[in-house]
Amino acid sequence: MSLDSEPRASASVLIASHWLAEPLCMCYFPFVNSMKKIAVIAGDGIGKEVIPQAVKVIEATKAPVELTYLDWGADRYLRDGTTVPKDGFEMLARDFDAIFVGAFGDPRVPSNIHAKEILLGMRFKMDLYANVRPVRLLDASLCPLKGMEPKDIDFVVIRENTEGPYVDRGSVTNEGTDDEVAIQEDVNTYKGVRRIIRYAFEYCAHNKKADDTRRSRVLMSDKSNAMTYAGGLWQRVFKEVSAEYPQIKSEHMYVDALCAQMVRDPRQLDVIVTNNIFGDIITDLAAGLQGGLGMAASGNIHPGKTSMFEPVHGSAPAIAEKNIANPMGAILTAAMMLRHLGLTRQARWIEDGVLEAVRQKKTTQDIGGNLGTSEVVLWSTKSKFIAYVGDPDFHDGAIRKISRNSDELVVEVEGSTGTRFAVRFVGVESVISYNPEEMGLEALVEMETVAPSRRFVFVNWLEPEDQGGDAKLQIIARDFSVEKLMADG
Ligand SMILES: NC(=O)c1ccc[n+]([C@@H]2O[C@H](COP(=O)([O-])OP(=O)(O)OC[C@H]3O[C@@H](n4cnc5c(N)ncnc54)[C@H](O)[C@@H]3O)[C@@H](O)[C@H]2O)c1
Repeated sequence: MSLDSEPRASASVLIASHWLAEPLCMCYFPFVNSMKKIAVIAGDGIGKEVIPQAVKVIEATKAPVELTYLDWGADRYLRDGTTVPKDGFEMLARDFDAIFVGAFGDPRVPSNIHAKEILLGMRFKMDLYANVRPVRLLDASLCPLKGMEPKDIDFVVIRENTEGPYVDRGSVTNEGTDDEVAIQEDVNTYKGVRRIIRYAFEYCAHNKKADDTRRSRVLMSDKSNAMTYAGGLWQRVFKEVSAEYPQIKSEHMYVDALCAQMVRDPRQLDVIVTNNIFGDIITDLAAGLQGGLGMAASGNIHPGKTSMFEPVHGSAPAIAEKNIANPMGAILTAAMMLRHLGLTRQARWIEDGVLEAVRQKKTTQDIGGNLGTSEVVLWSTKSKFIAYVGDPDFHDGAIRKISRNSDELVVEVEGSTGTRFAVRFVGVESVISYNPEEMGLEALVEMETVAPSRRFVFVNWLEPEDQGGDAKLQIIARDFSVEKLMADG
């Protein structure tokens, strides 16, 4: 049966290896029509470098988002004394679906007052109580521990984000004398502890690991042997909430023992819930397991409210303005934000791009590559297809012809320079076309053969979503090869 078809529109074409958790099925791609509004605050230092790069990646996905740039940060503070404009947090909560943030901290502002008011202000005043920090090893080469594979490190830290010592309560008496006493209060409320522990159990119940296996354990970490008042509350509430989730295994570890475990054998870890300060500290350690601070993503979440997403790292003034900061943490954070907004396909596209860049060492120096911040992003947005085809213009191409004979599927694509390529898929496992009628590919949808799963996914978005499109062709095959054709095909 011949399945030749002519293109209807220009297309974005990429090849992606399928590595994320969701199963493939016909209803796989959620159809998202509404434009999501995102406030972008790059902030200080390397925030001003990595966030614009991550924005380029978001734009490359053609996600239906509207970005508004806010200049909050040290420059603005030094210019006019503003940290957060009047009603700034109300405006964020009212006018935006999400906030995408870089980092705050600048040596020109030694008090760090702007960072405190902007960042802690957002977390506290917008009540973003769950700081979600996924810890996932993308490639064995990134882990300093011997013998660790990506499947071994895939856990998440859920950090309480609105209490603890960060509420900045306390006192200093007899300052400047030998009798000086400084007290920093560690605030833990029943409601605050209960909601973060419940969030952790809910997260465990509803999220899978990257290899599609279920999450099944929640570990609460504290220092209740020494900090008895706060620890007592955490212990009691953890028992109370864990009883509501009998299907999930609940565990406890003192935070010092947990640090040792993270380095000795992180394979045991699944969902960790802990307080504000321990969460802050152990996620820097955890970032080390996944390639360093430049690789770590995070979200500051209050379900149902405008939430904020930021890479785990700070403004790193020592490496700012050198085009060496690793943008992957910010890019993975962008993916996390898009997934939170329901833009799953775009999130996967980004994560696939990062994974491939890491595998091919198209990265900054801190994780073994030799590219600058902006070059990494350029590569990631064009990503896989370039690696195989070697034509940087191929990314923006069009499908010209699709044909099939026996086990082989041939897709002819044309890059924007006019060069044509034939992509020959063998061992085709499944072909999924969304909007198949208009693509004339109904027959392909039914074709499904079992094949050993060296998976490649060929995705074609035939039309930008703002033109009512979202048609796509996705092919999972054992292997593929690319052949350059003459210009006239
Ligand atoms: N969320 C935030 O905004 C946030 C978080 C932490 C620190 N800070 C602030 O940032 C400033 C610097 O703090 P710091 O030096 O302790 O922590 P940092 O995370 O900014 O940097 C620590 C070190 O980690 C490395 N690093 C961090 N991000 C990297 C990246 N993307 N690519 C490559 N290497 C990277 C660098 O070697 C850097 O010197 C301070 O003012 C601090 O208060 C802000």
